[in-house]
Amino acid sequence: MEKEKIAPLSQDILKKKAGLKAAALVRDGDLVGLGTGSTSSWATQELGRRVREEGLSIRCASSSSQTDLLAEKEGLILSSLGSLSYLDISIDGADEIDPNMNLIKGRGGAHSLEKLMHFMSNRFVIAADSSKKVDFLGQKNPVPIEILPDARSYAEKKLSSLEPKNIKLRIGEGKCGPLLTDNANWILDVTFDSIDDPERYEIEIQKITGVIENGIFAKIRPTPGDCIIF
Ligand code: A5P
Repeated sequence: MEKEKIAPLSQDILKKKAGLKAAALVRDGDLVGLGTGSTSSWATQELGRRVREEGLSIRCASSSSQTDLLAEKEGLILSSLGSLSYLDISIDGADEIDPNMNLIKGRGGAHSLEKLMHFMSNRFVIAADSSKKVDFLGQKNPVPIEILPDARSYAEKKLSSLEPKNIKLRIGEGKCGPLLTDNANWILDVTFDSIDDPERYEIEIQKITGVIENGIFAKIRPTPGDCIIF
């Protein structure tokens, strides 16, 4: 008898499952940090549903203008990140996750506020589909580095000590010229052969004057239990 063929779950379904499972960790009364990107947007939508249908009472802060708009649409109560000094829990996606839960984030250009948000959080939850798992950071993605526009050439020169393979100024879509972040800065996408010591790279990049924040998350990482991967 011919075996029944089971279609692999699409990446979007896996992202949705991860986002919904992460949203289930939020409790009544929590101050919640909302991440950015397609996976965390599932969590944000599920929180909206829980507020409307289950009477969940939460206050949120968002990590980007994209998430501001979604949270507003979902009817979530938003406080500005700057008005808060801590969060109970934050939920976000990732671009790469290594076996030690070190991350690369920032493909959506929001990693600076995301990193701030996660440092402020008592609990840091990552939701992702399994395509985000890598053997080592830098395997598939460049490291996004948000810089002051005037620091471009200086930052590129200083980055050479880390022997990058390629440095690319991120160009905006739907506009001419460089992409402007929510903080009105620019992003360098920096490719490395292999990031053997993520914390060292994170710290070394951050030492460069003019760097706002880089997309390696090694100093702050989710615990294995709070890294939800489908
Ligand atoms: C936003 O700047 C990023 O850090 C996102 O969290 C990351 O790119 C994951 O995005 P997806 O969930 O859309 O894959």
